Amino acid sequence: MKSPGYKVKIGIVGCGAIGSRMAEAIRKDFKNDCRLIGLYDINRYKVERLIKKLAINISANQSLESIINKSDCMIEAVNSDQAKNIVKKTLKAKKSILAMSVGRILNSKGLFELARKNKCYILLPSGAIAGIDAVKAASLKRINKITLTTRKPPAGLMNNEHLKRRGIDLSKIKKETVLFNGPVEKAVKYFPQNINVAATIALASQAKRRKSPFLVRLITSPKYTRNIHEIEMEGDFGHMVSRTENVPCPDNPKTSYLAVLSGLQTLKQYCTGILVGT
Ligand SMILES: NC(=O)c1ccc[n+]([C@@H]2O[C@H](COP(=O)([O-])OP(=O)(O)OC[C@H]3O[C@@H](n4cnc5c(N)ncnc54)[C@H](O)[C@@H]3O)[C@@H](O)[C@H]2O)c1
Repeated sequence: MKSPGYKVKIGIVGCGAIGSRMAEAIRKDFKNDCRLIGLYDINRYKVERLIKKLAINISANQSLESIINKSDCMIEAVNSDQAKNIVKKTLKAKKSILAMSVGRILNSKGLFELARKNKCYILLPSGAIAGIDAVKAASLKRINKITLTTRKPPAGLMNNEHLKRRGIDLSKIKKETVLFNGPVEKAVKYFPQNINVAATIALASQAKRRKSPFLVRLITSPKYTRNIHEIEMEGDFGHMVSRTENVPCPDNPKTSYLAVLSGLQTLKQYCTGILVGT
């Protein structure tokens, strides 16, 4: 527990849609609870641009390692398979991390063990989906069935390598089309940037420990304008259906705006120590 008035020192890696908005909120809305001590991006221009926009007195030349060492908690918001290494580096330095790229760390049991050993937090926001609170609680007893159906406009799936390999041209899709229907492990492997919510549900429901598979369906249509996620779950607790219709983030159509807000709320809870919901 930090002393009264202490401002949690935050470093951000990845200054894209999510990282930039989180930096702005730390600077304006959460300034009594935390402060920004460093920004890092492989694209230095993005760091310089953000520092200028925030009118903040920090250097744009800091290494990732030095930011980690100075911070209490890092925020990971990179669109790369380096996400896992960034989380590992942070935990090795005995610092906590709020990680947005949940799909990239789903199969990294070692990271969770490292966090436990070094007594630091891995904070994984619910992201762009409602119902994670119930999934977490329900997972303490039996879950018989859990499915996720995600609907995304083609723009939210652009440049996906798996679709390219399969020769699927998103611009030629004219009607509702199922792009994937299968287990969560494959969903996050093929769509690492598009379906973080599936990884979050898998972790929240402890999918690996259960016998019944967690199935994911991904559907697209040029008629869709929102990222829509539906969870259906059945278990000892009863039956749950949740549906979230997300507005895409203006800076990145692959990212839902609610995911940004969810990251911010998770950070706020961490900094203030007040946690509402499971
Ligand atoms: N948990 C969720 O529900 C959820 C929802 C949306 C997005 N996400 C994930 O959050 C991450 C960030 O999303 P975004 O919309 O901000 O992406 P973005 O593309 O807008 O920004 C990513 C930034 O990361 C930088 N970057 C890439 N590799 C880097 C590296 N190795 N080191 C430092 N910087 C690096 C890029 O230059 C870019 O500025 C993505 O992995 C995305 O899949 C998670």
